[in-house]
Amino acid sequence: MNEDLEKRIRAAISNPQNLGEMAGADSIGTVGNSECGEMLRLWVKFKDDNGRRVIDRATFQSFGCETAIAVASLATELIRGKTVQEALALKTEDLAGQLGPLPPMKIHCAQLVEGALRSALDPASAVAAIPPGAVAPAPASAPTLLDSFTKPREGAVKIVFRPPPSPGS
Ligand code: FES
Repeated sequence: MNEDLEKRIRAAISNPQNLGEMAGADSIGTVGNSECGEMLRLWVKFKDDNGRRVIDRATFQSFGCETAIAVASLATELIRGKTVQEALALKTEDLAGQLGPLPPMKIHCAQLVEGALRSALDPASAVAAIPPGAVAPAPASAPTLLDSFTKPREGAVKIVFRPPPSPGS
C-alpha cells in the first residue's frame, strides 16, 4: 500500500464517523462471516425530506481491517440524505471516496462496506419487516458484532488442553 493511501486511511480512522450501534434503526444489514473474522454491520435510519424517503443517518460496527473501518466511516457520511435508489447506485469506488483508488488486495475491504449497505437497504432487512415473535436472520439477531463472535455455535467442539504428564507417571 502506498504511503499517501496509508496516511488517508490513518486520518479517516483517527476520528471515525458514525461508529457504533444505532437504537431505533429502521434497517440493519450485516455481511461477512464470524467464522473467518471479517464482519461489518450497518444500521440505517430514514427520514422524510419533502416527500422523499432519504437516509437520515447510518452507523456501523466492524471486525474488518483499518481500510474497512475508514471506508465505512466515509460511506456512512456519503449516503446521508440519499434515497435508497441513489445509495444503491454508488459503486465500491464511490464509497471509498476520498481514500482514492484502493490497491487490489484492499478492494474487498470496501466491498465489505458495499455489501453491508446493500444488505441494510434490502427491504427484507427492514426492522419492521421482521414480524413480532419471528426469529430474525442469525447475524441481525445478535445485538452486536461481538455477540456474533461469542455466541455458542451449533456443533462446536470445545478443545481442552491437558497438562503434560508429570515425570514418572
Ligand atoms: Fe479484510 Fe480489510 S476487511 S483486509
